[in-house]
Amino acid sequence: MNKNKLVLVSLLVAFVFVASATVSLAAPLVIKFSHVVAENTPKGQMANKFKELVDERLAGKVVVEVFPNSQLFGDNKVLEAMALGDVQLAAPSLSKFEKYTSSLQIFDLPFLFKNMDAVEKFQQGPVGQKMLMSMKKKGLIGLGYLHNGMKQISSNSPLRVPADADGKKFRIMTSDVLAAQYEAVGAMPLKKPFSEVFTLLQTKAIDGQENTWSNIYSKKFYEVQPFITETDHGVLDYLVVTSVEFWMDLPDDIRTEVKKALDDAIAFGNKVSAEKAIADRQLIIDSKRSEILTLTDAERQLWVDAMKPVWKKFEDAIGKEYIEAAVASN
Ligand code: SIN
Repeated sequence: MNKNKLVLVSLLVAFVFVASATVSLAAPLVIKFSHVVAENTPKGQMANKFKELVDERLAGKVVVEVFPNSQLFGDNKVLEAMALGDVQLAAPSLSKFEKYTSSLQIFDLPFLFKNMDAVEKFQQGPVGQKMLMSMKKKGLIGLGYLHNGMKQISSNSPLRVPADADGKKFRIMTSDVLAAQYEAVGAMPLKKPFSEVFTLLQTKAIDGQENTWSNIYSKKFYEVQPFITETDHGVLDYLVVTSVEFWMDLPDDIRTEVKKALDDAIAFGNKVSAEKAIADRQLIIDSKRSEILTLTDAERQLWVDAMKPVWKKFEDAIGKEYIEAAVASN
């Protein structure tokens, strides 16, 4: 080999060595998962399980960073942050997407679903699955639904019949359907971020709020609300969401593995949600800080009669056939 050839071969060898070292040293892809609830909730547990599974299955390739308790973004900002690429995964409550799609408003219609089995059946059915893609044009993809559970109404005075809510202020999530639901019983709804609810209740700036057993327990709302009416009037579930851009840019094999880890984490989170709906309710009873009011059938019917007209108001925006499919899942 002449001298020039030798130099060329050496340069080539050096290049291949540097290139392969660069590939093996490439920083893992970071997925930031931001949420607003405590870690000991269905969503908190699901996010941590997702991180654990990705650590196990995609070690060195993908890293998940979980930010609970609105540490990174509150629900009102997280979707804007996702569009900017500042966060890759979130799971806002289904009530918090109305700026992006009206179809998901269906989940806020009062007394639509009888129980979580009906919610699950609807979400996994053709309409629920179609809704996952309802925000694609706005740059968001739904990767799956996660359960939290049925909502109850807490208050600083006993609520047995709709007239008891008349003139009272209730914090709601950012949803026009929820606003209409409280207006239907003469109450005043206030859209506020989740992170502010405890202080609003504690300072009596508001009279009450609606939430699931796990959120009422983990955020200590029961410590500042002497009454919780067991209404089961609506569902609080989540959409695990990412940006179209981030998702489609992932290499195929990574995307497949990340989705599998997410599906497994959601299955785990759904199990936690079913357990917590029972366990956290009991912990609240045991605390003796808040009295749980159980409605008679006649009292419950009064709430249904007062709130159900809200369906008609949103029927055109949501789609009559979607509402019929939801009713059929009961
Ligand atoms: C959540 O569970 O993510 C928050 C629910 C709420 O805003 O009330």
